[in-house]
Amino acid sequence: MTCPFLSQLSSTYVRNYWPILMKSYGANCPVVTTVAAKFHSGSEGGDVTKCPFLAETKPSLIKEASRELRDDVIRIGGTFPYESFFREQIMRKKKDHSYRVFKKVNRNATKFPSAIETSRGDNTPITVWCANDYLGMSCHPGVKEAVKAALEAHGAGAGGTRNISGNSALHEALESELASLHHKEAALLFTSCYVANDSTLYTLAKALPGCHIFSDEGNHASMIQGIRNSQVPKHIFRHNDPHHLYEQLQTVDRSVPKIVAFETVHSMTGAICPLEDLCRISHDFGALTFVDEVHAVGLYGEHGAGIGERDNQLPHMDIISGTLGKAFGNIGGYIAADATLIDTVRSYAAGFIFTTSLPPTVVAGARASIAILKKKLIEFGFPVEPTKSHIIPIRIGDPQLCTKVSDVLLKTKGHYIQAINYPTVRRGEEKLRLAPTPHHTKIMMDEFVADLLEVWHAVGLKHSEPCHYCRRPLLQGPCQSGTCDIPNCPQLIVAN
Ligand SMILES: Cc1ncc(COP(=O)(O)O)c(C=O)c1O
Repeated sequence: MTCPFLSQLSSTYVRNYWPILMKSYGANCPVVTTVAAKFHSGSEGGDVTKCPFLAETKPSLIKEASRELRDDVIRIGGTFPYESFFREQIMRKKKDHSYRVFKKVNRNATKFPSAIETSRGDNTPITVWCANDYLGMSCHPGVKEAVKAALEAHGAGAGGTRNISGNSALHEALESELASLHHKEAALLFTSCYVANDSTLYTLAKALPGCHIFSDEGNHASMIQGIRNSQVPKHIFRHNDPHHLYEQLQTVDRSVPKIVAFETVHSMTGAICPLEDLCRISHDFGALTFVDEVHAVGLYGEHGAGIGERDNQLPHMDIISGTLGKAFGNIGGYIAADATLIDTVRSYAAGFIFTTSLPPTVVAGARASIAILKKKLIEFGFPVEPTKSHIIPIRIGDPQLCTKVSDVLLKTKGHYIQAINYPTVRRGEEKLRLAPTPHHTKIMMDEFVADLLEVWHAVGLKHSEPCHYCRRPLLQGPCQSGTCDIPNCPQLIVAN
């Protein structure tokens, strides 16, 4: 007799998902339970009334399962069904539209921000609007020359960890330059700022006796990972909210070691933190400040040292983390701080110790980039309105529509703006995140706005009312005075 349940499903589906089907529905199937009960105890089992399809059918119609099926049942209790488990995880992502399909974008080093998109097999010219190569430094002739020279002089790879043949004069020179950029005694390179944040917070939290961590709720995954792994007590304060930080710090004795961790320019909203207030309050309670300047270095401050330099707060930032992979156009991360703290992290952080160091090409490229930017920063100018930073988020609030707008813009208009969905942002906060550079011309911007408007309407999105408070188009959700849930809402600041 054909199973009335399974016969409704395709054979491929049954083949791929049989372990899950068995697990979910097996207990309701009279055939499976009969066989299983007989196998385990020799007794009769199986309640026909449990099967939604056979409830009306006479039990005499039910035959004993074939030998093959019995073998399958026995195997379920055996090893873990890895393949179907992983399939299920991926299915979950696809169902909630957070499954990621990477676009293939070959950037053009002679025509930044142009690129060739090859995701669908053809070569389509596009404009990239979402790169973190904020100033196009990856393509700067001076940076490319430095990389080429380092390649010829030292080869492609570093050859080892910093401790085992992977240290060079170039690495040490870059560390000195980064330390001096941030007015600190020392700096330490990591293979990325993800690793820098994760390893530093983990190492310090573990090393400081009884340490408590105070973490901004909007913090980047790299900081969250380090804090979570350290398993020290943590206190989450509302995004960019000094008052909430104050309240939380009051709950822990002043003598206890503490770290307060936050970002200056928020990676997804573009909000800039109230740096002076956060540092002052942290120090009033005897905490160290750990400040992520990843989206600010190379862009803000007279020499590109970030918001800390712009706001004259460098002496109050105990540990600064930065990246070489965004405005500096290369790859790698670093921290800058007092020499003893840096030496402690250098000596204890597994993420620094046990990995191949940055290759000379990258170190040389980053050095050239920092030097060029330090000299030229002011010439660049930056179209930062109205978010106060260079990051312009356009909230869509629906993962499927967000992906659709991004895909249609790429396919039909040649603009690449990545859809940012969960888990990079919270569910309901899905957005397009633009990072225009000085190389995006006015004509490009006008074209982009017209094309976005067309696609916006084509996918069924509506224009929202402007903000009640500042009457500007909503970029970051409601921000009426007093009710805005982003304490340092850039839209509010723009309106003031
Ligand atoms: C706020 C923030 N911190 C740290 C990182 C990690 O930097 P990196 O790309 O150098 O690993 C990112 C990356 O996007 C970030 O947005």
